[in-house]
Amino acid sequence: MPDTFDDKLAKRVDDYIERLFIPHDDALVQGLKDAEQAGLPAINVSANEGKLLYLIARIAGARRVLEIGTLGGYSTAWLARALPANGKLVTLELDQKHADVARKNLDRAGVGDRVEIRVGRAADSLRAMVNRGEGPFDLIFIDADKESYVEYLNQSIQLARPGTVILADNLIRNGRVLETHPSDNSARGAKAYNEAMAAHPRLDSLILPIVRENLDGLSISIVTSDT
Ligand code: SAH
Ligand code: DHB
Ligand code: MG
Repeated sequence: MPDTFDDKLAKRVDDYIERLFIPHDDALVQGLKDAEQAGLPAINVSANEGKLLYLIARIAGARRVLEIGTLGGYSTAWLARALPANGKLVTLELDQKHADVARKNLDRAGVGDRVEIRVGRAADSLRAMVNRGEGPFDLIFIDADKESYVEYLNQSIQLARPGTVILADNLIRNGRVLETHPSDNSARGAKAYNEAMAAHPRLDSLILPIVRENLDGLSISIVTSDT
C-alpha cells in the first residue's frame, strides 16, 4: 500500500475545485439520493470527475457516446449534457433495477430523450452492436465490472474510428495496481487493462489520477489509424 498520499489535503483540494466549478444541481443531487434510497452502491464518479467527462466529450465534439456501466445514471447525465440536441448516448447495464433508477434520473435531468439504456451483460450487448455495425462512436466510457475491462476495450475498438476517445474509470484502485499480483479482482482487472492499453498499437493513452475517498484513476485513450 503506498503511504505518501495525503488523502485529507487531496480531499480538501477536490472540494475546493468542486466549489469553484460545479454549481449545485437539484436534478443530479436528487438522483444520487434516489439511487441511495433504492439501495444502489455509492460508486458513481465524483462531481469533479463528472465535469471532466463532460469537458472531454465537449472537447471531442462527441455526438455519439457509448457508456458501459450505468448504475443510477450519474456519469450518464454528465456525458449526455455534453451532447448537442441531436446527439445520442447508449448506456449498457446488467441490473434492471439500476436501469430503472437511471431512467427516472435521466428524465429528471432533462436528457432522457438522448439516452438509451440497454439491459444485459455488457459483453453480449457489445457483441450484438459489433455484429449490427452500430459504430462508430465518438467517445466510449468504460465503467462496469473491472474483471471484464480488457474484453470491453477490445470490443470498444471494434465500435470506434480513428479519433474515437476511450475513457476507463477506476484504474488505480488506491495504488493496488502497483502490486505485482493484486489480491483483489478489481485491481487485477484494472492492472490488466492498464497494461493492455499501454501496449496496444492503436491506442495513445494516459491515466489521470482521480481523488475520491481513495486515490483512483481515469484513462484517456485516442484510437489511432488502423493502417
Ligand atoms: N458509471 C456509473 C457507475 C457504474 S458502477 C457512474 O459513475 O455513475 C458499475 C455498474 O456496472 C453497476 O451498475 C453494475 O450493475 C454494472 N455492471 C456490472 N457488471 C456488468 C456487466 N457484466 N454488464 C453490464 N453492466 C455491469
Ligand atoms: C468502485 C468504484 C467505481 O467507480 C466503480 O465503477 C466500481 C467500484 C469501488 O470503489 O468499489
Ligand atoms: Mg467507476
